[in-house]
Amino acid sequence: NFVFAVDTDGGIDDAIALMMLIGAGRKIDFITTTFGNVDVEQATQNILDTLAICNADIPVHKGASDPTVGERIDAVYVHGQDGLGGVERPQHLLKPSGETAHNALRDVLRKAELGGPKLQILTIGPLTNLAEVLREEPDLGAGIDRIWTMGGTCHGRGNVTPAAEFNILCDPEAAKMVLSQAVNTTMIPWEPSLHDALPGDVVDGIFDRLGDTIPAKFAEHMCAFMRQRGQTWYHEDLLILPDPLAAAALLDPEVIARTIVCGVLVETGGEFARGATILDHEGKSQAPIIGIMEQADRTKMERILEGTLAALASRH
Ligand code: BDR
Ligand code: CA
Repeated sequence: NFVFAVDTDGGIDDAIALMMLIGAGRKIDFITTTFGNVDVEQATQNILDTLAICNADIPVHKGASDPTVGERIDAVYVHGQDGLGGVERPQHLLKPSGETAHNALRDVLRKAELGGPKLQILTIGPLTNLAEVLREEPDLGAGIDRIWTMGGTCHGRGNVTPAAEFNILCDPEAAKMVLSQAVNTTMIPWEPSLHDALPGDVVDGIFDRLGDTIPAKFAEHMCAFMRQRGQTWYHEDLLILPDPLAAAALLDPEVIARTIVCGVLVETGGEFARGATILDHEGKSQAPIIGIMEQADRTKMERILEGTLAALASRH
């Protein structure tokens, strides 16, 4: 018996990850939003619109609007100005809850301290929301049962700077706080989503088979937008889906073809490496030992993506 939450910055791949979890029938107790790909207002709207497409009414708690220190960055150059690649929005009446992400997470962890269900969380954006709670009340970390987190690198290949991946770079201090307390954590870094990206013809096949339902078209539009970005940067027709890979790993651990088991440090200073994740292979630090996906099973990932979206579409 756990409380399951998703913490997200409302980009294209975040939306697809959510659709997969909902399609898979995974019970999501609540969603917390954060700045990241877009500002937190837009991220929250994007999640509500995605939930409307899925016919899912899940509480959405708005979260952090700024990083722990320094200036906010965004990724509209990846996800488009609206964060969802200009997709057509559904009409609906969903609204964010009146509660903040901070209070929602804190309350679960406080209740866990008193014997209530512990928290399982998938984070697919900057780690600011969770870090704020842990910074204020460090003992509450004991209420976390499991974390799946998309972020960081396992071989030092950054996607924003040469050293840093986006989610970590958005708020390195927050990532450091979470990863220095991490219990039972699986990290899904940038590289497997790049190396095991979905070839364009595979994506075409998936959407051909999914047909013309509203959720399938919503996902297809966003994936097409993301593919264009892949073309621009990597000169190949590839669909890179980091957050859905994390969702897939949560749904089926066999998606993880190879794991590295070690502690992870986050660089918060540095001339070139702020936001870099450093793998402590030889146990030179106190960093808690976590599992890091080094390689994905692409065929399994494709099956889960198609299967969950098909299940979602079949309900329309
Ligand atoms: C991560 O950054 C965001 O752009 C994506 O949504 C994903 O969470 C990849 O670096
Ligand atoms: Ca994200």
